[in-house]
Amino acid sequence: MTVSARPNRREFVALAAALGASLALGPGKALAAPWRERRAAYPQGVASGDPDAHSVILWTRREPGAGASAYRLAVEVAADPAFRRIVARGTTRVDASTDWTCRFLAAGLRPATEYFYRFTDESGAGSRVGRTLTAPAEDDDRPFRFAFVSCQDVTEGYCNAYKRMIFEDERRPPAERLAFVLHLGDFIYEVTWYPEDTPDGTKGGRRLQGNLRYPTGEKLHDYHVPADLADYRVAYKSYLLDPDLQDARARFPFIPVWDNHEFSWSGYQSQQVWDGVARPAQTLKVAANQAWWEFQPARVQQMDGVHFDRFRAPPVRNAAIDHYDGLGTGQEPNNLAAIHSLKIYRTLKWGRNADLILTDNRSFQAPQPDGGGPFAVAGFPLMYPQDVNEIFDSGRDYNEGHPPATIRAPDGRDLPNPAKDYPRQSYLGADQKAWFLQQLRGSQKPWKIWGHSFGTIPIRIDVQNLPENLRGNWTGGYGLLNGGYDIDHGEIADTLKAEGITGLAIVAGDKHSFWAATFQKHLPPRAFEPVGVEFITGSISARGLAESIERSMRADHPLRALYVHDGPNGPDGRKLNMSLLHGVRSSLTFKETGSLEAARAVRNPDLAPHLSFADYGGHGYAVVQVTPTELTTEFVCIPRPLTHAETPDGGPLVYRVRHRVPLWQAGQPARLIQEVVEGTPAFAT
Ligand SMILES: [Fe+2]
Repeated sequence: MTVSARPNRREFVALAAALGASLALGPGKALAAPWRERRAAYPQGVASGDPDAHSVILWTRREPGAGASAYRLAVEVAADPAFRRIVARGTTRVDASTDWTCRFLAAGLRPATEYFYRFTDESGAGSRVGRTLTAPAEDDDRPFRFAFVSCQDVTEGYCNAYKRMIFEDERRPPAERLAFVLHLGDFIYEVTWYPEDTPDGTKGGRRLQGNLRYPTGEKLHDYHVPADLADYRVAYKSYLLDPDLQDARARFPFIPVWDNHEFSWSGYQSQQVWDGVARPAQTLKVAANQAWWEFQPARVQQMDGVHFDRFRAPPVRNAAIDHYDGLGTGQEPNNLAAIHSLKIYRTLKWGRNADLILTDNRSFQAPQPDGGGPFAVAGFPLMYPQDVNEIFDSGRDYNEGHPPATIRAPDGRDLPNPAKDYPRQSYLGADQKAWFLQQLRGSQKPWKIWGHSFGTIPIRIDVQNLPENLRGNWTGGYGLLNGGYDIDHGEIADTLKAEGITGLAIVAGDKHSFWAATFQKHLPPRAFEPVGVEFITGSISARGLAESIERSMRADHPLRALYVHDGPNGPDGRKLNMSLLHGVRSSLTFKETGSLEAARAVRNPDLAPHLSFADYGGHGYAVVQVTPTELTTEFVCIPRPLTHAETPDGGPLVYRVRHRVPLWQAGQPARLIQEVVEGTPAFAT
């Protein structure tokens, strides 16, 4: 194995400057005050992120003591955990301007190598020791493994999944250990409930811990959201006190992207949407980006491309957006300045086997038309007829620029088309989309792994197969529970097919549920041609739909059998999995017979040929193994994390399920081969 060319000193200096990082290169001089571990001085621990073959970003935060105005921090990087073989040192100053956080580019490292790092201030007060790994060299085709995660809510759940991940990793041979953890967003939940705001300190059956409180904040209804930069910083600082999250960041390099909650639960670009009304929030978008940059050790830059030693917040004011380009990017200058204040879309190269292409799905997301409510399928508040969804999706571009003025609602009324003046639904924006397609076309690797915060998998219900008494006034075909962006996804599928690009594997989060599927332009009755695969991981701790349905669905709801199985252990919301995988007839038959076999016998094979696995009740994480000819994703599902697991293994497993994907040739369909390794995934297959 040859090693790819190592950049020279000048190149590392330039790279560190471009990333707003201090440089740690070469062994330098020994510290004046030797390291003594004082974890209390670094309450958020340590972290590393975005490794390449010769460098990695290292992070910590020095809690300021009373009256402190700045600290001089040194970092040491060693080849061994006892720090006998130090390979890099660097120093930097931290102060209030970055909320006492720092980032170093540890450089001049060897590819695919394990390193240890620690921080020390002038007094010798030292951080805990972190461990990190560099990426493989360009020509390294050895298999590698990584985990992907999303959606950790530490205010109403526990990070037992990280404990399990660490436990399993420590027991694997070095060659099989995780190379990194890809975090697909909802690292924090900016919207939070305080225990005193509910009658019994719980919400939806979960105990509220009250461990995130905003110094300023804004209360809307019964929840709180950040009001300024200090609030966003407090969110990260509070979350990083979680011991298991902190242990994970100290053990693995993280590769993060954001989803919605790093800025705002509801909204798009730099706008929040509360109670259906858009509220300009350019200043908050910049604040959210700044806090993300300060607390996430990622190889990202501000979009003007200038070198920066720290995050430069562009001056913006909150202003409404009244003009959008063809892909829905608001052209209001303050919006553009805010969303360009940090560029997180990027590609990480992983040896000869994979390119990891990460997109920003929120900063350029088109506004969604409001007023779709009356078009929802009766009894399914979140579901729209598939044909209505297409009109919403295309906006003003529908029917070559001639959208209908009205749409027939399920109750027979012709109502105004709420999307008729909206830009089509898109989320990458013009520049990022062009860049993304170029990454796919230009990749020489067998696997193109697309880190996608919220996933693309369409989910539908065959409402048309319900008996008449349950169908209500429904006259259409499939109802779409989750979809949208059909035009963008269709274009990507067309590109893959036309140019013979194979090996697209999408990994996603956000859905608080596990999914394994193929990626294609259309589902039946249109031509079904899978050109990629997709995996979505269950949340680390945030609640899933099955949990919510179990608590909220009326016992006498006529459609209950589609959502809930009332068994000897109480209501089980995972029944919804069956409806989505096999169809409404299967769920109704199961209710009548209690027989999985009988339920399967009446399944609708056209409903979801793309789905291999669906579990709205699962939590945990996913592990991907990549070889030159095969990609395997393992779902590691843990019980609902309502209490902290005190055992070192993070508690029991619910199941471990693998999907193997052999690399396919151009023109062949992508396919998934399922193996249940451990446990029982109820209603999920
Ligand atoms: Fe989430």
